[in-house]
Amino acid sequence: MKNAVVIGLQWGDEGKGKIIDYLAADFNAIVRFNGGSNAGHTVKAGREKHIFHILPSGALRGKQLYLGSGVVLDPDSLRKELEAENARVKVDYRCSLVTPFEKWLDRRLEESRGGSAIGTTGRGIGPAYATRMLRVAPRVADLIQGKQPDYTSLTSIIAGAEIPTPEWAKSARDILEPIAADVPAELMEIDTKGDGILFEGAQGALLDLDYGTYPFVTSSHTIASYVGVGAGFSVNMVDSVIGVAKAYQTRVGAGPFPTELGGAFAEDLRTRGDEFGSTTGRPRRVGWLDLVSLKYSVSLNEPKKLSLIITKADVLSGMKELKVAVAYSFEGSETTDFTRLISCGNAQPVYEDLEPLPAADWGMIAKQGWDAMPIELKKFVDFVENYLRVEVSAVSVGPEREMIIERRRRVISY
Ligand code: GDP
Ligand code: IMO
Ligand code: MG
Repeated sequence: MKNAVVIGLQWGDEGKGKIIDYLAADFNAIVRFNGGSNAGHTVKAGREKHIFHILPSGALRGKQLYLGSGVVLDPDSLRKELEAENARVKVDYRCSLVTPFEKWLDRRLEESRGGSAIGTTGRGIGPAYATRMLRVAPRVADLIQGKQPDYTSLTSIIAGAEIPTPEWAKSARDILEPIAADVPAELMEIDTKGDGILFEGAQGALLDLDYGTYPFVTSSHTIASYVGVGAGFSVNMVDSVIGVAKAYQTRVGAGPFPTELGGAFAEDLRTRGDEFGSTTGRPRRVGWLDLVSLKYSVSLNEPKKLSLIITKADVLSGMKELKVAVAYSFEGSETTDFTRLISCGNAQPVYEDLEPLPAADWGMIAKQGWDAMPIELKKFVDFVENYLRVEVSAVSVGPEREMIIERRRRVISY
């Protein structure tokens, strides 16, 4: 058995939760290594819909779950999910905590930004990574040793801050002490036994703190190589990267979005795709697939090990048009360099018109397999593969587990 990582290649919400649940059946352990409760990963199993914010999305498969040290851990959010799900989870001693202080600061910072707010999820993520960098954040190990979170170095300069009480610390300790572990050591042991580990990325490559559309990004690293830091597991021992991208593009929160659509067309796409945030319920901004940014994301995520899963193709089926952006235009000059967007802003997309996807019985096609795909979808897949120079290993055509068209049995080949 080998190891794999699932990464979102857009601005999050690509359908990673569904793909992880689908792949998890073949792995022994599922590991989150970045982000915190800003994630909202949806798994639809039968009639039930589960949205995971902090637990890995392999929870429904009964696998051993881990939160690596790269996660910022909100004990209140973990408690709620453990009450709802019957899951086995261990958390690294080194995880730093999201306390009432980080959530308070996230809200205050957003308020102070006024019209230029980032539109964060309000889960305390930026402040949690900041307090870790400032070396004042409490970690799981500190709570277990009975240390009271101490923010006085900051609160002496921030008036009115909400800080964690001793009662908060006690209840956080109660939940974390029994499940705290040395996650890198356990992962090494699992690997040595020959069992497989699946790493679950949160957010998407374009929200990466360094490589995304800064400052409209999250505060952690969202690319595959962060497994090395966020789980303490060598990225050289990750055999396969599964990049997940929607057949179109969405974004929650502010920031550049060259292919964004507006008006009634966008409203229709949003409704068809049920594009409302899994964490905050906000309507997602929607637009055509942006291959310029997708190629950039591929280049950041171990391209030699990467295969692509395209999700939500069913959402475009029956629409009158199908466009994909193949370049950007800046004041008349064309480029396929995504970094120009980061440095110059204001790109106009250059579109290629593809044949629209017909209405189809996707359930039947998923059962019959790859060769039963409508020719228009095959052409779409070919176009994406030729542009990106990576293989599409599956196309997802519905939120349910079985709604996936595999190119071959199980998408990962070693
Ligand atoms: P994640 O954050 O990447 O896990 O994605 P979210 O769960 O936030 O958002 C993806 C949404 O699309 C969820 O409501 C999923 O149930 C749904 N979904 C996933 N794959 C498909 C698909 O192929 N077709 C359709 N129609 N919905 C999908
Ligand atoms: P999943 O894992 C989509 C966005 C927020 C905001 C920016 C910063 O479900 O794909 P933060 O709270 O992280 O400081 O917010 O990042 N964002 C996401 N957008 N999916 C996510 O996670 C996101 N997590 C954060 O909307 O624009
Ligand atoms: Mg999501």
